[in-house]
Amino acid sequence: MTKASNSGWWRGGVIYQIYPRSFQDSNGDGIGDLPGITRRLDHIAALGADGIWLSPFFKSPMKDFGYDISDYCDVDPMFGTLSDFKALVMRAHALGLKVMIDQVYSHTSDQHPWFKESRASRDNAKADWYVWADARDDGNPPNNWLSIFGGSAWQWDTRRRQYFLHNFLTSQPDLNFHNPEVQQAVLDSVKFWLDFGVDGYRLDVVNFYFHDRQLRSNPGRGMPDGSDPAVSPVNPYAWQWHHFDKSQPENLVFLQRLRALVDQYPDTTMVGEIGDDDGLARVAEYTGGGDKLHMAYCFDLLGEPHGATYLHGVFTRFNQVVGSGWPCWAITNHDIPRVATRWGGAHPPAGLLKAAAALQLSLRGTACLYQGDELGLPEAEIAFEDLQDPYGIAMWPDYKGRDGCRTPMAWESAAPDLGFGAAGSTTAPWLPVAEPHRALAADRQRGQSGSVYETYRALLAWRRGVPALIHGDMTLLSAHPQVLAFVREHAGERVLCAFNLSDAAVNWRADAAAGPIGAVLADSGVRGAAVQGDAVAFEPWGVLFARLG
Ligand code: GLC
Repeated sequence: MTKASNSGWWRGGVIYQIYPRSFQDSNGDGIGDLPGITRRLDHIAALGADGIWLSPFFKSPMKDFGYDISDYCDVDPMFGTLSDFKALVMRAHALGLKVMIDQVYSHTSDQHPWFKESRASRDNAKADWYVWADARDDGNPPNNWLSIFGGSAWQWDTRRRQYFLHNFLTSQPDLNFHNPEVQQAVLDSVKFWLDFGVDGYRLDVVNFYFHDRQLRSNPGRGMPDGSDPAVSPVNPYAWQWHHFDKSQPENLVFLQRLRALVDQYPDTTMVGEIGDDDGLARVAEYTGGGDKLHMAYCFDLLGEPHGATYLHGVFTRFNQVVGSGWPCWAITNHDIPRVATRWGGAHPPAGLLKAAAALQLSLRGTACLYQGDELGLPEAEIAFEDLQDPYGIAMWPDYKGRDGCRTPMAWESAAPDLGFGAAGSTTAPWLPVAEPHRALAADRQRGQSGSVYETYRALLAWRRGVPALIHGDMTLLSAHPQVLAFVREHAGERVLCAFNLSDAAVNWRADAAAGPIGAVLADSGVRGAAVQGDAVAFEPWGVLFARLG
């Protein structure tokens, strides 16, 4: 095997995330599948993405829709077969798209043979493969750790008469990474897919692999009295500092082992998902030094707040901590309300969607687009009876869960189920299609100059020819209540990127230190700013890309 050439396609690349259940059904069971994805890969290639990330399609009881895996090395029959996946990879490669798979190593399904064996007794060969602990004298769990999906992170098991740890559902027991055999088993599964020909991994909750060996309780961060914006009143998980249940130092050593394996395969990459009290610091830690993850994302652009002031704060902190690390920026994914609604409310203006796209695609880092972002789809309203997500069912109505961003993709405005279903199928999709998506379906926007889809396509094509946007440093300009602005610089090329992130026109001046504004880069496909000397008149949601003298 040759050492990775590390061509770095992923650096500054664009990755399109596919949620397989909701992309394209090909066999009429109401659930998307691998042959359906293969059929639709043209759409992603035409958009101009560099690769795809497929949410899990492995064997699973689907309690968390595939994020509860019962066999890491096989395809769930609901999605197809290994040869369907082979065909998908071949088609993607023929189209010039890299294929990244999403592996969930922090936990397995409780139906995984490893867990079945582990829970059978306290002295079997896999007894220590999960995190087991005795009850305290009063019968309570060993500490105060909480599950993100609600309640204690500990579940009592009558067979072993012990608790086991689960950071998510009780049916997602946490693997014990302190056990070297577990680490080896995980690395073996990574190797399986690398040998199969995948180009990389999205690593689910990558900072949850290790827990504190002493099982110390997390400190509380105070009641949700509104003084700390990070403390959600809805989910008490946010009321703790997560010092001990995740982000443990041992993980860095494991990630180095993982990187050494992955580096044996040319042009492969990894992006980790990080949910942490200080996500940017973890991104820095996990991606700095070139010997752990290639990229990572945290939730700073995936929460409620947005607007120029908030984003200026995020990027200021980013510049302070991330150093040589490499972030991956997502503004929507399968866990978060769609950005159109989160940032734009019930009637998101098209200008905001284009400005958000332009911003995401000009940040230092890699960009992850989520299926439907390129159409500007709003969050779907789901009736309680139609909810599927256990997280939403547990916390409804204050938190409605993640179904609203997981409804079927909008392909054809006049077709049944917007073209998601197999031809002639009468089976209802697993989640209802969203009626407001009809007018935004891909077939309506393709070829329509100025549509959100054509704007994404133009942006993706244009940025390929602007090396500063892909490789450049990023220097923030002064904070402004409406305008976020920064300079990307590479090999003497300096590009001003400025965004009016408000619905009001504004006159703005770049910092004098940035230098005079030169030619406007009009091919970006986004506009809304008139330059006169160093004065810029922004329309609502206006965007300016220009060379700096
Ligand atoms: C990640 C996934 C999410 C899943 C959870 C547990 O956050 O993105 O969908 O529910 O991990 O695996």
